[in-house]
This record gives sequence, structure tokens and C-alpha cells, in this order.
Amino acid sequence: MIQPNQPKGSATYRAHTNIALIKYWGKRDQALFLPVTSSLSLTLDAFYTDTQVTFDTQLAHDRFILDGQEQETSQVAKVSAFLDRFRAFAQTDCRALVTSTNHVPTAAGLASSASAYAALACATNAALGLDLSQRQLSILARQGSGSASRSLFGGFVIWHAGQGEDSDSSYAEPFEAAEWDLAMLVVMVNKGTKKISSRQGMALTMETSPFYALWPDEVAKDLAAIQPAILAHDLASVGQIAEHNAMKMHATMIAANPSFSYWEADSLKAMDLVRQLRQEGFTAYFTMDAGPNVKVLCPASQAEAIRDRFMTEFDSKQLAVAYPGPAPYPIND
Ligand code: ADP
Ligand code: DP6
Ligand code: CO
Repeated sequence: MIQPNQPKGSATYRAHTNIALIKYWGKRDQALFLPVTSSLSLTLDAFYTDTQVTFDTQLAHDRFILDGQEQETSQVAKVSAFLDRFRAFAQTDCRALVTSTNHVPTAAGLASSASAYAALACATNAALGLDLSQRQLSILARQGSGSASRSLFGGFVIWHAGQGEDSDSSYAEPFEAAEWDLAMLVVMVNKGTKKISSRQGMALTMETSPFYALWPDEVAKDLAAIQPAILAHDLASVGQIAEHNAMKMHATMIAANPSFSYWEADSLKAMDLVRQLRQEGFTAYFTMDAGPNVKVLCPASQAEAIRDRFMTEFDSKQLAVAYPGPAPYPIND
């Protein structure tokens, strides 16, 4: 525990992003980040966040530097509110300097909020010497960004919705190690900042989309179907269920009022190419999140050939092949 007169506790962690195959879309409690449904994801090796947290008694306020830029008040406030939960555990009011680097485009629908809050949770825990469990860290990361609860673990991860208003019942845990013939080609259609954040998008959908009422049952069915498919390493079934789940989520947004969509013309082009590749015998399925970028689930053994096909329509700089990634780990600061 950091005592008020103790000068500095510092730690740096790397956490990887995760892409949901069965999506989280909607909160039953916005303050606690309790989701309407459970969800299931794959952690990726190629995209991650490095975050250093240094508690310093000399600081009058928390500071937050992202990609070398001192952040403005509203961004600092989000980080401060997150740190407050850890400060309560440690019984300290010591302020901190948070310095973070995203090795993933920020707020582009590539899950920067997932790797960000997982890295921040792990680094804060270590900097304060709290020794919280992975499950406790998943619960805390969830309250920074829901998808971050899943980035506490590697491979395939399930985030349990939990019961009622019980925050401690809503946590992620490993589902399957993903140590098989598996890759995800990420097609970066647009790395820019989205106009509607995930948070706003899901809230607007819940409030106004008549199709949202159908969503929880669809997720329950898809979750029940995808789990045995993952355990059987049946990638075609996993992909088919994941692609359909993503399309149903995007359908809820199109039916929102006002209607909105994260898709761009090149997103459609990428989806079409995936369908074409399937016709040619490739095992390729797409998923999309709150952004225009397309992620293609495929066997690792087909990933290079699939990327080569995408190079005919996209720039090589827009394409990245990712493989299953690990849980967060400390790095030298
Ligand atoms: P994404 O699709 O990238 O997850 P979101 O809208 O869910 O987009 O979240 C983006 C927000 O996450 C940013 O506006 C910022 O508040 C937060 N965020 C992103 N990266 C970091 C970071 N490294 N440290 C702290 N917060 C971050
Ligand atoms: C479409 O976790 O970014 O990517 O909890 O409000 O921070 P907040 O939202 P966030 O939402 C992710 C939505 C999604 C689906 C998913 O990752 O499950
Ligand atoms: Co996010």
C-alpha cells in the first residue's frame, strides 16, 4: 500500500485488444457498465496499449499523456474516475501520471478502449502494490470500458453478463486457449476517429431501435452455438455464427432513430471480397465493430493468401494479419 508520504510507485503494462465474435451491445446499468448480454471475444497479438502509471505525492492533479499528447480535462476526468476506484482500495489519495501509447488506432472501432483500460487496470494495481486477482481486475477494467473486461485474458474469452445490480458477478474469464490454426486479417478501411463512440451508439440503439428487443435472445442463441464450435476447432461454424451475430448488431443500429451506421463504402467492398473468397473455397468470415474496419477470421494457414487477395483492392498499409494474443504482462519502463 502507498502511504501518503511515500514518494513513488510506478508500473508499466502491455495489454492487447480483443475483437468480439459475439458482441456486447447495450448496458443494463450505465454507471456500473453492466451489459445486457454476455459476450465472447478473441484477444489479438498485433494490437495493444502500453501504459505506465506513476503515483507521485508531488502531483496536485492526475495527468494523462496519450501518444505524447497531454490530454484535455474530459479525458483526464475519465482516467481519474477510474484511478479513484483503485485509490479507494489502497486507501490513498495520491495523484498519478499516466503515460500511454496505443499500438492500435484510437477510437476507430479497433478496440483501443479494451486494451487501454486493461493496461491501465494492471499498471495501477501493480503501481499501488494491490495484488488484486485477474477477476477483480476484469471487474474494474469493465468500469472503464466494457470490452476491457475481456482484455485481461488471452485467447478466446467470455464475459459473463452477471446478475441484476451485482457488479461482482459481471467479469470475464478465459474460454479456450486459441492455440490452433487461427488468424484475423484486419482491414483498416479508415483509422480516423469515429463520430459516434461505442458508448453513444449502443445507448442510442437501446433507446430507439425497435429491433433491439430481439438482440438479447439472438446473443443467447449465438453464444450457445459458438462455444461447442470453438471447443471443436470448427472454424467454419465459428465464423458463420460470428458473422451473423455482427450483422444482427449492425441491423439494430440501422433501425435506430435517427438511423446510423459505422459502415463505409470500403467496408462493403471488404465484406464482398470475403464472400467471394468463400466461393473460391477459403474459410473466411468477417466481423465488424463500432467503426468501418473489417476483421476477417480465417485459418492462419490461409491468412497470407487471403491478405494477398486483399492487396488487389486495398493498400498493404491497410492490412494487418493478427494471431491470438496473450493476457496483459509487465514491461520495462
Ligand atoms: P474503440 O473502438 O477504439 O474502442 P471507443 O469509442 O470504445 O473506441 O473508445 C475510445 C476511447 O477510449 C477514447 O476516446 C479514450 O477515451 C479511451 N482510450 C483510448 N485509448 C486510451 C488509452 N491508451 N488510455 C486511456 N484511455 C484510452
Ligand atoms: C461493438 O467496450 O467500447 O466493439 O463499454 O461504452 O466503453 P463502452 O463500450 P465498448 O463497446 C464495444 C462494442 C463493440 C462490441 C464488443 O466489443 O463486444
Ligand atoms: Co471501445
